[in-house]
Amino acid sequence: MFRDDVLAGQVALVTGGGTGIGAATARMLGRMGATVVIASRKASNIEPAVAGLSRQVGRPVHGIVCDIRDRAAVDACVKSVIDTHGRLDILVNNGGGQFLSPAEVITPKGWDAVVATNLTGQWNITQAAANAWMLGHGGAIVNITMLTARGFPGMAHSVAARAGVEAMGRTLAVEWASRGVRINSVEPGLVNSSGFRRYPEGAFDLRELQRRVPMKRMATVDEIAGTVCFLVSPLGGYITGQTIVVDGGHSLWGDNWIVPDPEPLPDVVIPREEWEE
Ligand SMILES: NC(=O)c1ccc[n+]([C@@H]2O[C@H](COP(=O)([O-])OP(=O)(O)OC[C@H]3O[C@@H](n4cnc5c(N)ncnc54)[C@H](OP(=O)(O)O)[C@@H]3O)[C@@H](O)[C@H]2O)c1
Repeated sequence: MFRDDVLAGQVALVTGGGTGIGAATARMLGRMGATVVIASRKASNIEPAVAGLSRQVGRPVHGIVCDIRDRAAVDACVKSVIDTHGRLDILVNNGGGQFLSPAEVITPKGWDAVVATNLTGQWNITQAAANAWMLGHGGAIVNITMLTARGFPGMAHSVAARAGVEAMGRTLAVEWASRGVRINSVEPGLVNSSGFRRYPEGAFDLRELQRRVPMKRMATVDEIAGTVCFLVSPLGGYITGQTIVVDGGHSLWGDNWIVPDPEPLPDVVIPREEWEE
């Protein structure tokens, strides 16, 4: 299904493509024949990934240093992709991140930073790609979000931003469908990616968290990348405005994050009607 010429002639931009899920997606898109450009803030993530991905794909993969929160940098990044490669058919909005915090101690600055990256940043590059290329020629956009349907304690800022991205995606899907632009979101559950190294040591007990997933394991980065590649390929050609959950059943069962029980737990007294003995 993901044969090596299925995306031949297409140009893909993957934000956060130097690490984790983004790097796996860049590699898979490249192996499907697309010309791939990765973009993120740190040259220290982009430069080694460009070399490593080019080796793995067997063709050059390109890199641009760009902070998606900076609208001028985003416009310049999109312009550079189109000027250099002639088009921009696929955008994977994967760049993002957050810090874990109980909601009551998230500072205004912390809230703004997480929303700027995970909502406004994704909007910035989506609108820039649409205006510079996709609304005139068609295109496919996939947003990587997170599990948003249930409570996600410790992530109030990020889950709000990601739910906003999904809602934005549904709206853009309708506004832009007749212009040949499709936009979908992928919600990963627990993914075994380098991203977990960004959290303080011990922030997550990943071994324990795996118990809470019906499939009893984390996803691989390729299992997320595969869904993204399906959605942007011709096989996903009639899918737009959807959110695909890739979580091993996690959102159907189990806890994302353990909230302590009150002590002592209240007694449970099963009620009787007053006329019962
Ligand atoms: N791993 C999971 O279990 C999981 C679950 C649900 C959702 N997700 C989401 O999936 C995405 C990828 O996660 P991952 O696990 O692969 O972790 P990761 O390695 O931390 O990936 C995040 C990527 O985003 C880039 N990035 C962060 N801020 C950026 C900005 N302002 N502008 C441009 N790029 C930026 C980072 O590169 P720079 O530092 O170079 O900017 C990095 O390459 C993230 O949005 C993450 O929150 C992950």
